Amino acid sequence: MHRYPAAVFFGGPSPEHEVSVITGLQAVAALKENGRDVLPVYVSKGGRWFTGDSLADISAYKDLKALEAGADEMALAPGPGRSLRLVPLNQPTFGRKEGVLVDAVLLAFHGGSGENGGVQGLCEACGVPYSGSGVMASAVGMDKVRAKILCRSAGVSVVDWVETTETEWIGAEERELDRIQEAIGYPAIVKPVRLGSSIGIAKVDDRAELERAIEEAFRYDASVMVERCVPNLREINCSVLGSAGNNRVSVLEEPVAGDDTLSFEDKYLRGGSGGSKSDSAAGMASLDRIIPAPIPEETANTIRTMAKSVFDAMDGCGVARIDFLMDDESGEVWFNEINTIPGSLSFYLWEPSGLPFHQLVERLLELAVERFESRTRRVRSFDSNLLDARAAGGLKGKLG
Ligand SMILES: Nc1ncnc2c1ncn2[C@@H]1O[C@H](COP(=O)(O)OP(=O)(O)O)[C@@H](O)[C@H]1O
Ligand SMILES: [Mg+2]
Repeated sequence: MHRYPAAVFFGGPSPEHEVSVITGLQAVAALKENGRDVLPVYVSKGGRWFTGDSLADISAYKDLKALEAGADEMALAPGPGRSLRLVPLNQPTFGRKEGVLVDAVLLAFHGGSGENGGVQGLCEACGVPYSGSGVMASAVGMDKVRAKILCRSAGVSVVDWVETTETEWIGAEERELDRIQEAIGYPAIVKPVRLGSSIGIAKVDDRAELERAIEEAFRYDASVMVERCVPNLREINCSVLGSAGNNRVSVLEEPVAGDDTLSFEDKYLRGGSGGSKSDSAAGMASLDRIIPAPIPEETANTIRTMAKSVFDAMDGCGVARIDFLMDDESGEVWFNEINTIPGSLSFYLWEPSGLPFHQLVERLLELAVERFESRTRRVRSFDSNLLDARAAGGLKGKLG
C-alpha cells in the first residue's frame, strides 16, 4: 500500500523544541501502532537534521550531545516520483549510502520555520506530501496581525489592535504611544506579532508600562501589536480537522491557569507532577484544562462556527487549534489565534470527539496525500522548451 516509510519531523530551533519532541514521538508511536513503517527525523536546536532508530526513544533526549552523536546526520532532497530522499551526510543512513525514500511527512514542529511555512515550502520543493496547513496558511497563522486581518475580512470578530513596527517606533516613541493610547486605552495587552508560548507578552495599565512592554517585545520581533484587554476573560479553544470547506470541529476546551495571562511556565513547565504522568500524556496535555469547556451550548455553537470560518478563510489543512477570547460577563467571543500545528496535535480534543490518536495521525497523512494529488492534477509546466534550437533562434534578437 505504502511504497516507502512515512517520516515524522520534529524538534527544530524554536522555544517549543521540547514540546515538539514530545508531539513527534507521540506521532511516531501511534503510526507504528497502525503497522506503519516510520522514520523519526529530529532537527536539533542548532538546526541540524538527523534520523535513526535511536531517535524514537524519549529517554535518549536527556543527553542531546550523545543523541546527535548516535544518529545519522542527513539532508532532504527530492526523491523519484512522489517521494522525498533522506540523504546521509556522513555515515550511511539506515545502512544505505544512497539514503532512504519517504512517502509522506507528518510535521510535528511547534514554532519557528517548522510551523511558519518554511519547512512546508521545503517539502513542496522536494515534491513530497506533508501534513497540516500549506505555506500560506502556515505563514499567516504565525503572524497574529495578518491572521486577524484575514479573519475580520471573513466576518469573524477580533479584538481591536494597533501595530507598531521598529521603523515606526524608533525616534517617534512619544507619537506612537499617543497613537496607541488613543486607539486602545488601558488596560492593554502587548505582544510580539510573530511568536508563541506567551514569550514577550505583557498586560499594561499605564503609559510607562506600555512603553516598557513595547521595548521588551521588540527584543523578540520587529513588529509589535497592542490589543484591547478583554475583561472577565475566559479562553476557549476548538480544534478543526480536514481541509478548507470540508472539515469537522472538536469538543471545546477551557485552559485554566493561575495567573490572568498564560505564561510559558503555565503552558509547558507546570504539571508533570513528580513523574506521575506518562511520557505520552506530557506536553500540552499537562496544562490544566476543562474538557468540554463549561460554557452555554449557544456560545459553544457560535465558537464552533467561528472556528470553521477561520479554518476556511485561512485555507487550513490537517489539524489546527483555534483559540478564542471570551468576556464571561457579556458572553462576547473573539478570535485570538490559530495554531496550525497544535501541541500534541490536539489529540486530547479528538479522543473525546470520537477520534482516537492513532486514527488522527493516519487521517493527517491521508489529507496530506489528498492535497498533494489535488495540486499535482493541475497544469504546472509546459512541455515545450523555449531554449531548444528553433525557439532559441527566435529569441536571438531579443537576447542580443
Ligand atoms: N486581548 C487580550 N485580552 C486579555 N488577555 C489576553 C489578550 N490577548 C492575549 N491574552 C492572554 O495572553 C495569553 C497569550 O496570548 P496569545 O495571543 O494567545 O499568545 P501566544 O501565541 O503566546 O499563545 C492568552 O492566552 C491570554 O491569556
Ligand atoms: Mg495562545
